[in-house]
Amino acid sequence: MNRPYTIIVSEVTIDGKLTLRKGVSSKEIMKFMDEEATRYLHQLRAKVDGIMVGAETIRTDNPFLTVRYAEGKNPTRIVPTSMADIPEDANILEKHAPTIIVTSEKAPEEKVKSLEEKVEVIRCGEERVDLIKMMDVLYQKGIKNLMVEGGSTLNWNLIKLGLVDEIRLIHMPFIVGGTDTPTLVGGEGFSSLDEVVKAKLRAHFLRGSHLITEWEIKYED
Ligand SMILES: NC(=O)c1ccc[n+]([C@@H]2O[C@H](COP(=O)([O-])OP(=O)(O)OC[C@H]3O[C@@H](n4cnc5c(N)ncnc54)[C@H](OP(=O)(O)O)[C@@H]3O)[C@@H](O)[C@H]2O)c1
Repeated sequence: MNRPYTIIVSEVTIDGKLTLRKGVSSKEIMKFMDEEATRYLHQLRAKVDGIMVGAETIRTDNPFLTVRYAEGKNPTRIVPTSMADIPEDANILEKHAPTIIVTSEKAPEEKVKSLEEKVEVIRCGEERVDLIKMMDVLYQKGIKNLMVEGGSTLNWNLIKLGLVDEIRLIHMPFIVGGTDTPTLVGGEGFSSLDEVVKAKLRAHFLRGSHLITEWEIKYED
């Protein structure tokens, strides 16, 4: 199978959280990200062909996913959602950049038609988006490198399936706590040390006041 080279990029707190509380937009914690770290994030966006987030991030954060604090072209925005559940007024449906909604055969025809008036919609998978098939289709469409900006559920599903090559973290200097606050990787988790996904630290440096860490994923070791 061909698939894009895939990098998860995320802001995380000291305690590994993605946001303040379950259901709360991560835009709240991003207000504390300084200019240089924001530029680092947008420079990465400008380098990739595609940028992906899970549909829950669209419904909670309503991001634009465009390049605004760096020079360069907007990547294609890609959102998996099994029932084509994207709000009509979502910012990713605006014409700032191309958008691909990836849905399943089960998504209501009406909903798909309405989205197709604004963006491209593709179906991959019967009941749920088949992420492996989706990656193959995206590669065929010219998405050779892909950045994934969360959230926790999408990150888990991609990592579990062996679809991630790197993780880059922008560390936020605070602790938010909360048992059910989304962490970098959610899902059911691995149940043994044999299954855990290992990573190798490739680089660490400061951007403004933020520590950045870059990790290579080692599925084979
Ligand atoms: N700090 C950061 O960098 C950062 C970045 C992004 C998000 N966040 C935060 O993360 C939270 C959202 O995370 P989340 O875990 O709730 O949701 P998520 O990972 O953003 O989205 C999960 C959704 O993706 C869709 N999906 C479709 N097919 C899928 C598949 N095969 N595998 C996985 N997902 C699939 C599903 O939507 P359907 O139900 O429509 O099928 C699923 O509910 C928000 O609070 C947001 O603020 C933080």
